[in-house]
Amino acid sequence: MMKKSAMRWLLAIASAIIVSSTAIAQSKPNVVILATGGTIAGAGADVTNSATYQAAKVPVDKLIAGIPQLNNVAAVRGEQVFQIASESFRNDNLVTLGKRVAALAKQDDVDGIVITHGTDTTEETAYFLNLVVHTEKPIVVVASMRPGTAMSADGTLNLYSAVSVAGSKDARGRGVLVVMNDEIDSGRDVTKAVNIKVEAFKSPWGPLGLVVEGKNYWFRKLDKRHTMNSEFDIEKISALPLVEIAYAGGNVSDTAYRAFANAGAKAIIHAGPGNGSVAGPLVPVLQELRGKGIQIIRSSHVNAGGFVLRNAEQPDDKYDWIVAHDLNPQKARILASVALSSTQDSRELQRIFMEY
Ligand code: DGL
Repeated sequence: MMKKSAMRWLLAIASAIIVSSTAIAQSKPNVVILATGGTIAGAGADVTNSATYQAAKVPVDKLIAGIPQLNNVAAVRGEQVFQIASESFRNDNLVTLGKRVAALAKQDDVDGIVITHGTDTTEETAYFLNLVVHTEKPIVVVASMRPGTAMSADGTLNLYSAVSVAGSKDARGRGVLVVMNDEIDSGRDVTKAVNIKVEAFKSPWGPLGLVVEGKNYWFRKLDKRHTMNSEFDIEKISALPLVEIAYAGGNVSDTAYRAFANAGAKAIIHAGPGNGSVAGPLVPVLQELRGKGIQIIRSSHVNAGGFVLRNAEQPDDKYDWIVAHDLNPQKARILASVALSSTQDSRELQRIFMEY
């Protein structure tokens, strides 16, 4: 028969273990992973297939199970929101995802959110969420250039780093982040600059910081308005207006612009060369479309550290056109879609392009 003193001693140890494990569990941040597909959920036929694979195959629970070390940095749970390659994202996918992120961000038992995503349109989703989700909590979009089945796959470390950043107090209030290849970039600035290397994502103004072995090293903050300081709110958006991008180089015709107008586009992003230059014969066409109420937004497909200057080669004030400033065409489309959900005034739209 065990003595009472021994029983009391064992009970004391047991309760101490329960208390400490509860405390450890509570000390770990709660991070939710929203999975949408992409290469990070991709699968190839052989370990040598680092670029030949099928995207959007592996479910979120398998992604999480594949990295047991996630439990060292956060209490993690997953939701499969979509299972698609990101080039197939549509505006309604953005709205659905944005509403889920905003709802989770309001929950007291959620400290951070990670979104696994295809790399092709990571920059669009991250910028969209940066504009419309009102939270200080870290929201981190993460992707990979190689499928998990390949040698030197990058998704595992990217996802571990993303969860670590999403659970970090020092990542709060910095806007939506993109974690790839050890870098922490702003969802507003970052773009997929290379289609075939692990070091694929670049921010023209540089990353916000680096994450190494689960520790964040910050070097700058985003100057533009975002999240809590944004005038846009996903809860007031049910659908995004149609905005199209017309890519222009030499020998440009008006075919795409007229087709977009006929399809009901509320704005056309002119993705021009140089300073968003507009070919002479195209100017009267864009003036005609502007006269029909379609917003004309000059952006440039020359990126990396420049911006489209208003009233330089084109009299934007006279034509009532808008410049996309430093936003590339695909980000200009996102901002125009969000902004047009709240104003049709071109001067207000130009203010928005300068502030976001
Ligand atoms: N289909 C592309 C996408 O889902 C694959 C690229 C990737 O995720 O790395 O964005």
